[in-house]
Amino acid sequence: MAQPSVAAMGKETKKRAMDNSSNQMWGGRFAEGPSAIMREINASIPFDKALWRQDIAASKAHVAMLGVTGIVSAEDAKAIEQGLDTVAAEYEANGVPEDWDLEDIHMTTESRLAELIGPAAGRLHTARSRNDQVATDFRLWVRDALDQVDAGLEALQKALVARAGEHAASIMPGFTHLQTAQPVTLGHHLMAYYEMIRRDRSRFADARARMNESPLGSAALAGTGFPIDREMTAQALAFDRPTANSLDAVSDRDFALEYLTAAAQCSLHLSRLAEEFIIWASQPFGFVRLPDALSTGSSIMPQKKNPDAAELVRGHAGRIVGCSTALMVTMKGLPLAYSKDMQDDKPPVFEAAGLLALSIAAMTGMVADADFITAKMRQAAELGYATATDLADWLVREAGIPFREAHHITGSAVRMAEQKGAPLDQLSIEELKSIDSRIGDGVFAALSVEASVAARTSHGGTAPAEVEKRVAEARAALGIE
Ligand code: ARG
Repeated sequence: MAQPSVAAMGKETKKRAMDNSSNQMWGGRFAEGPSAIMREINASIPFDKALWRQDIAASKAHVAMLGVTGIVSAEDAKAIEQGLDTVAAEYEANGVPEDWDLEDIHMTTESRLAELIGPAAGRLHTARSRNDQVATDFRLWVRDALDQVDAGLEALQKALVARAGEHAASIMPGFTHLQTAQPVTLGHHLMAYYEMIRRDRSRFADARARMNESPLGSAALAGTGFPIDREMTAQALAFDRPTANSLDAVSDRDFALEYLTAAAQCSLHLSRLAEEFIIWASQPFGFVRLPDALSTGSSIMPQKKNPDAAELVRGHAGRIVGCSTALMVTMKGLPLAYSKDMQDDKPPVFEAAGLLALSIAAMTGMVADADFITAKMRQAAELGYATATDLADWLVREAGIPFREAHHITGSAVRMAEQKGAPLDQLSIEELKSIDSRIGDGVFAALSVEASVAARTSHGGTAPAEVEKRVAEARAALGIE
């Protein structure tokens, strides 16, 4: 906002401004205003209170180490540990109090500890800074989130595999450009998502393996002169090892970014699956009846059953991608080591984690409980000359015609069938022979949708026998009997 010029001010205002020269033109408000703004912009407690469990765990690991190494007396270490347990019990029972003056979860906990146990509380922060503290807490939180997402995705895979096994031979149209392409099986289609989720889980697992190092003991940025034992705190918090560089350890947010980029990728997969359900549930398709529990009605149109959960999964993917972008842009160009910008790392991660967990749960329910209308799918697979490729393949295999030429002959057959308003296998043998005399009676066996899918036995193909093999492998990988 532009400041008013002194010339434009009223007499009283001008007088105050002059009297209070250090506070400049905006006079009296300066003492109140900016400090209130500072308190508000500085406070992370409204969101970082979500880290309280991790903060207590890390503090307990730290003080136990301070006690063992003799940096703090055994007596004080014990008092601090017990005090931290009391604070944790209070948070558990009543929630974390939000006092902006205490800025964040770290100061909130330490201040409550001081109220409870007195001056000994002040020894907890020996050989530590909020910089290594927040880096440690946040890693612990993201690590938990990674474990939760893995469990959720495993449940989704199990649902996909169960339905795929049930529908290994259920025929539906396969699409490219959302135009009927070739018949596939529903089991094959569902197993495509099993594969995507398998890769998502492996991305999250990679991130977990890489991030599992303890920043605790890096202190503000340079390490500490106290004889701390970083192996001990790392072990207590189930980290694989302490981080190797203190500057990196307090500055690194790759672990959060890897979580977010993997989450974004996963949300794209969930969104595509949601989109399939939305299309399949539409009346012209009618491939699926969505579970009532994951649908809503319309306030005006009594007949409606809307795929809101699927639409929100599709929508949430946009927000999760946004969270990932937000943190990338926050981190870009920050010099080492800690800068306060990094306090903004938490909201996007918390938001994405919540949205992703919900999206996974919604899609798991949808896959598990959807009512697939296989008759409608089978019927749709008959439309759109989905077995034209099978005619071309037959000409190659049985009549020795080069594929390009076979493709051309088949095109003429499709045109003729279109003019007749009939499917390909309704053309008579005479009609087919009029297009190319090398076409023989045997062709009809290849033109049914069943023959079409059964023929696609290449590894990873849609033949029911192949789909069953993939389902069996997936069951074994998931430990299903
Ligand atoms: N609330 C801060 C954050 O989340 C904690 C670290 C503060 N460190 C500091 N040097 N001001 O980033």
